[in-house]
Amino acid sequence: MADEPLILGIETSCDETGVGIVRGHTLLADALASSVDQHARFGGVVPEVASRAHLEAIVPTMRRALSDAGVTMADIDAIAVTAGPGLAGALLVGVAAAKGYALAAEKPVYGVNHLAAHVAVDTLEHGPLPEPAIALLVSGGHSSLLLVDDLATGVTPLGATIDDAAGEAFDKVARLLGLPFPGGPPIDREARAGDPAAIAFPRGLTAPKDLAAHRYDFSFSGLKTAVARWVEARQRAGEPVPVADVAASFQEAVCDVLTAKAIAACRDRGVQTLVIGGGVAANSRLRAVAQRRAEKHGITVRVPRPKLCTDNGAMVAALGARLVAAGVAPSRLDLPADSAMPLTVVSV
Ligand code: KG4
Ligand code: ZN
Repeated sequence: MADEPLILGIETSCDETGVGIVRGHTLLADALASSVDQHARFGGVVPEVASRAHLEAIVPTMRRALSDAGVTMADIDAIAVTAGPGLAGALLVGVAAAKGYALAAEKPVYGVNHLAAHVAVDTLEHGPLPEPAIALLVSGGHSSLLLVDDLATGVTPLGATIDDAAGEAFDKVARLLGLPFPGGPPIDREARAGDPAAIAFPRGLTAPKDLAAHRYDFSFSGLKTAVARWVEARQRAGEPVPVADVAASFQEAVCDVLTAKAIAACRDRGVQTLVIGGGVAANSRLRAVAQRRAEKHGITVRVPRPKLCTDNGAMVAALGARLVAAGVAPSRLDLPADSAMPLTVVSV
């Protein structure tokens, strides 16, 4: 609706420089510049390289978003920016830019939580989020299950990974298999030609004794080690590594645990809606397994389209829109970038 506030969101927490513009739940622009190619040969994001790339990309990306949306800075009602968690130097570029634009154009600024933004982005595709909802947040740096009573004011963490994040496991296993970085998309692709039941890889923290203490927690480091041992054994025996089968079996182990625990959380809490966000939510198998299992229990799964799952500016704008609609006060102009911002803090 034309009378809803026009929100601009800036994202620079990792390797994507994103500027999104939304009006209410309507996405008007989602401009993105990625430095992923500059990190590929290192097998992971290099913080200094990412910061410099943000610095070079932020103004052109900003201009592109405004032009795509057909608006000017004067039309914007509020600016939202990722204040954390993420790489300190990378966050600083976005936060400094947001402050500069806010000061120059006299706009309120909201420093927001990147992880809450991964949940909020779904509203751009499916409209308002029915609350309470359970959110499964799976990215390169985080894997958590949350109870979302009110996304504008706070979320309750139910569990999280005790070692590697789900995306990190994809990245490490891809490396083992000689696939490019980031590892999620190539594993997703390879797995389509493989047999998910070919190799029985371990399902972390699902044994009855582990469930007692870690019902909603995840562990992917044992799985990663199991894949490494399996691949090494084949190589030592001088046999070829069946990449598609290993990828499919690994992916199945991850998706099995993520969806089983997410659905258990919904059922335990009597919650009807499961929203999945973060880069790993782009995974085709995760989406399919979640859908199939949720249907059995009358639970609705909401996952945004893959482009909105990975980091972008639209998700930050979407959370900003939610905060403005809820009447949450803007941040102070001296808001800090907080690389370790806790999940429970939605805005600063
Ligand atoms: O949310 P995101 O873009 O950045 C962080 O906040 O971390 O997530 C990036 C992660 C990477 O680990 C990447 O391998 C993973 O998301 N990812 C995927 C897929 N696409 C991206 N993992 C599995 N399947 C995919 N299709
Ligand atoms: Zn992210």
